[in-house]
Amino acid sequence: MRQTELERGVEQILIEDERLQERVSELGEEVSADYAGRDLLLVGVLKGAVFFMADLMRRLTVPCEIDFMAISSYGASTDSSGVVRILKDLDINIEGRHVLVVEDIIDSGLTLSYLVRNLEAREPASLEVCALLTKPERRQIDVDVRYTGFEIPNRFVVGYGLDFAERYRNLPYVGVLHANLIPEGA
Ligand code: IMP
Ligand code: MG
Repeated sequence: MRQTELERGVEQILIEDERLQERVSELGEEVSADYAGRDLLLVGVLKGAVFFMADLMRRLTVPCEIDFMAISSYGASTDSSGVVRILKDLDINIEGRHVLVVEDIIDSGLTLSYLVRNLEAREPASLEVCALLTKPERRQIDVDVRYTGFEIPNRFVVGYGLDFAERYRNLPYVGVLHANLIPEGA
């Protein structure tokens, strides 16, 4: 099959479309069972988590609301700066709410650790994290993640919401970015 222009940036497919959907269904069942009878609020971290969150919430059998936050992590580089800044805050007051943070990937953990501390200060009834992907080898700070989709090796991945310099989010699978696209020192 001829590679599309987009796919030329991908070295290898790591998680196929079907496998992603299967796992998202499983997570949806798990979350639905755990949150039965509670007023669930999904908090998505823009922009990468949008795709995962849209699929996950359609697998939930409990009523839920959604809101979004944007925090700074990477620019065009592939490495976390450690400097975290809120670019867009929640619209909803989460005090007394059951909050589930939905993230695309946990790498160093710096972004999520900041976010969790920030949200905890707002006194939600409960606060848990659901991440599609995690790179355990890269962890610099310990974060408590209740639901994880897949553990992946230390490779820079794109697709299904994950970007490199804002591109590749629209790939239906998760793939490894071509080595020659990764800038030196990253
Ligand atoms: P952390 O603060 O190092 O855990 O970085 C978390 C954020 O970095 C994620 O929400 C992603 O936006 C981004 N990120 C980390 N690893 C990757 C990757 O392999 N591909 C695309 N984005 C990534
Ligand atoms: Mg990103």
